[in-house]
Amino acid sequence: MARATSKYVCQNCGASYPKWSGKCDACGEWNTLVEEQVADAMPKGLGKAGGGRKIEFVALSGVPADAPRRMTGIQEFDRVCGGGLVHGSALLVGGDPGIGKSTLLLQATCCLAQETRCAYISGEEAVDQVRMRASRLGLANAPVQLASANNVRDIVASLEAADGPQVAVIDSIQTMYIDNLDSAPGTVAQVRACSAELIRVAKRKGITLLIVGHVTKDGQIAGPRVLEHMVDTVLYFEGERGHQFRILRAVKNRFGATDEIGVFEMGEDGLIEVPNPSELFLADRRRDITGTAVFAGLEGTRPVLVEVQALVAPSPLGTPRRAVVGWDTSRLAMVLAVLEARCGVAIGANDVYLSVAGGLKISEPAADLAVAAALISSLTGEPVPADAVVFGEIGLSGDIRAVSQTDQRLKEAAKLGFNRALMPQPRRSRGDGSAEGLRRIELDHLSDLLPLFQADAPPRPPRGRD
Ligand code: TYD
Ligand code: MG
Repeated sequence: MARATSKYVCQNCGASYPKWSGKCDACGEWNTLVEEQVADAMPKGLGKAGGGRKIEFVALSGVPADAPRRMTGIQEFDRVCGGGLVHGSALLVGGDPGIGKSTLLLQATCCLAQETRCAYISGEEAVDQVRMRASRLGLANAPVQLASANNVRDIVASLEAADGPQVAVIDSIQTMYIDNLDSAPGTVAQVRACSAELIRVAKRKGITLLIVGHVTKDGQIAGPRVLEHMVDTVLYFEGERGHQFRILRAVKNRFGATDEIGVFEMGEDGLIEVPNPSELFLADRRRDITGTAVFAGLEGTRPVLVEVQALVAPSPLGTPRRAVVGWDTSRLAMVLAVLEARCGVAIGANDVYLSVAGGLKISEPAADLAVAAALISSLTGEPVPADAVVFGEIGLSGDIRAVSQTDQRLKEAAKLGFNRALMPQPRRSRGDGSAEGLRRIELDHLSDLLPLFQADAPPRPPRGRD
């Protein structure tokens, strides 16, 4: 017999406790515990006596069927989804308010609606507001079914109907509720229960479910992590407020690669695909200024050229300031330490600011060398050659290590008119890194970079800290 008990669940991290307390021990947040009623899901005596049936196991070998997919025709979106939307899958799109999640999913459903029955269920906006947005996007005539609803019981019934949609958008999961739970919409219990219910019906009926999720101030999708575990695909829609660029990034995908990005530009008529992001990221670049280097990076399967900017300035503070946008702070500390300790560049006592132009976040270690070049350039006042791209990983001993997919990086650089590449010696076994018309300057050690700046004053010898 199921027994109802109550427990206290942290709304920030989802940890549960038998007793209330002011602070969650798991995540350290205050006042986040909320009481929830839970039925005992696993009454005692499961197994044979409990009426469980034996599962039929099958052999691992066998021909897997390709998951059937629906293409939206928005290539940046389809690629990030792993090549279209899989039937019966659940996809979560997270992002800051106002970044364009609703716009993106409305555009995607309108494209799909030509061939598929699509429904757009908004819990945040009235039908008229969605209509207004659609007409602004020039999509007012798309045959999308529109509804403004919050009650998951009603939504499930509509999805289950014989003429129910094949693709459904839930905007957003934090506004949905199930009426037999006491907690308010947006709480962990509601988010979890609503998603479970919606995903269950989506799987059973082969509906593609597109769920919008809000993110909290530290960038996590609000609600418990369990939401990310429940869905098949998690996409983050990111971008800087002041910038027009929006980047759709797959962080989890059961049906495709996770390191793909899709780049969009938010314009007057909605989101416009950017098929060649390098051109966009380099559009504002001014040549021959110090402290910048063009990094030949790789985002998923696609090479992306992006400008890394550094400013090294004398610090008035005892502990110099380090400010990083779009890169890893600890990685910057590592590059600074290697420059100081292995190459004799006295840089550690300065304030250092580092920024990746265009609002892109880089996670590749291959950016190390570009960061180092930008730093040295800012320190010495000599620009990195304007026709050069830079990439390579820096080891702790100062050695420059080969990175993957050299060919692709070089090809992209050549395509965009660069003549030189400052790069590691490529691994011979993995292609020779050739690209027409590009001169390769292969570096073995970080100190090989210093003569390239031909600074009037040679780098100063290492200096002890006082
Ligand atoms: P929206 O999709 O409502 O964001 P979210 O659902 O993530 O909260 O995006 C709204 C923002 O996008 C809003 O600030 C206005 C801007 N926008 C445009 O610049 N052009 C457009 O064509 C549309 C529809 C929105
Ligand atoms: Mg919205």
